[in-house]
Amino acid sequence: MNVVIAPSILSADFGKLAAEVESVVEAGCDWIHIDVMDGHFVPNITMGPQVVSVLRSRFSCTLDVHLMVQSPEQVIPAFADAGADIITIHKEATPHVHRALQMIRGQGVKAGLALNPATELDGLTYVDDMIDLLLIMTVNPGFGGQIFIPATIEKIRSARERLIRSNHGDVPIEVDGGINASTIQRARGAGADIFVAGSAIFGEDNRKAAIDALRAAVG
Ligand code: DX5
Ligand code: ZN
Repeated sequence: MNVVIAPSILSADFGKLAAEVESVVEAGCDWIHIDVMDGHFVPNITMGPQVVSVLRSRFSCTLDVHLMVQSPEQVIPAFADAGADIITIHKEATPHVHRALQMIRGQGVKAGLALNPATELDGLTYVDDMIDLLLIMTVNPGFGGQIFIPATIEKIRSARERLIRSNHGDVPIEVDGGINASTIQRARGAGADIFVAGSAIFGEDNRKAAIDALRAAVG
């Protein structure tokens, strides 16, 4: 799959969110990554479906919603109604992973499954035909600006092999956390396709140069 660059708006200036999103859309990003945190599953609290709905009304690009929320079943319909194109839930956030993935697809939205750094790939068993995307967290979820965890490179490689073995080699692997021009190269080499980047893009004044630098590193 072609490389997808997905700026995470968690690192944007919330005081001028629409202008921030416009800056990365104009700079040629592929998707917009929206980090939803509930203060339970992760210690931080961020945004809800209203933000998705506002961005949907203004932008046509893919809205990639990352739910770092306990019991995501409760909020999936609200994010689907708000216009999410992809909703990713965490394996660790519900005992009903299969049901939650079914709910997402039932709303006509693409379903993603996220695994925390310490979560085994076994979590994929029995649901690999239910996912449109696998998100391998490359930091512990909760905050932007953290350092990429090196052990995740081997995990990406194993996940890619595993998907191929189970005849789901076409499922893209997304990586999220600590992605910059150097880590993107290693993650791509291990088999990742979709690259979320917060601080590496919104931390730079020149958004186009930041996105171009990420692309160049994997080009
Ligand atoms: C972490 C979030 C990430 C975060 C990435 O919990 O899921 O999307 O914004 O930020 P950086 O790229 O700064 O690590
Ligand atoms: Zn994220």
